[in-house]
Amino acid sequence: MIGIYDSGIGGITVLASLLKELPNEEYFYVADYQNAPYGDKTKDALEKIVTKNMDIFMQKRCKAIVIACNTAGTLKDTIRKKYDIPIIVIEPAIKMAYDRHKEKKTLILTTPYTAQSKSFHHLYKKYEMKDCKIFACKDLATLIEEGNEKKIKKYVKKLFLPYQDVEQVILGCTHYPLIQRQMKEILPQVMFYDGGLGTAKQTKRILARKKLLSTSKIGTIHFFFTDQKDRTEKFQKVLDDYTNHGQL
Ligand code: DGL
Repeated sequence: MIGIYDSGIGGITVLASLLKELPNEEYFYVADYQNAPYGDKTKDALEKIVTKNMDIFMQKRCKAIVIACNTAGTLKDTIRKKYDIPIIVIEPAIKMAYDRHKEKKTLILTTPYTAQSKSFHHLYKKYEMKDCKIFACKDLATLIEEGNEKKIKKYVKKLFLPYQDVEQVILGCTHYPLIQRQMKEILPQVMFYDGGLGTAKQTKRILARKKLLSTSKIGTIHFFFTDQKDRTEKFQKVLDDYTNHGQL
């Protein structure tokens, strides 16, 4: 079984790619609503939260864990030191944008936590582009969880107002690809990048290298909600919509 992890529904954007790349695996998805959102936490608080959730995966005897949350992923060095199984971590797709169009005007959207983290700045410096800005989206993940179309549109409109000439946008939080449609309405000519597919491909490579790929024929998904409130139906619907249309 592969463990997959996010503060809430954002990890679905990674799970969709995992199911394409690795359709025969069994998945155990932890949505940590008890502690969501992660984007406004302190480092100490986030470390405790992530450790607690990693222990759930260890108890379930997962063979690998995919951190489908950019915010939790900033703690990858600490996490990998503690657990002796493959841990695959999503990162803002800066390298992808850099490799394709490093000369273009770029905007990176992340949670406030990610924006000020060391690991993010390391990545940002490594693939430094000519004209690249970072915007920390306060409360956007929560708005996406709530799913109020009107409020989302208002937020996105205001957010992009100073960035009308931007040419590419990196979605550095796994919740954000879920509102790509609303973003494209404001910035129709812009390229959007996210790390979902790259993370899934990396998971496949690592499992193959370690000879951990499933040999069964049918993949399954189990959802686990840390606040004990079952949202399986909603998650399954969002997964189907995202898989079929690439957004909600
Ligand atoms: N989906 C998460 C991320 O990729 C976290 C959102 C939140 O809980 O603030 O950063």
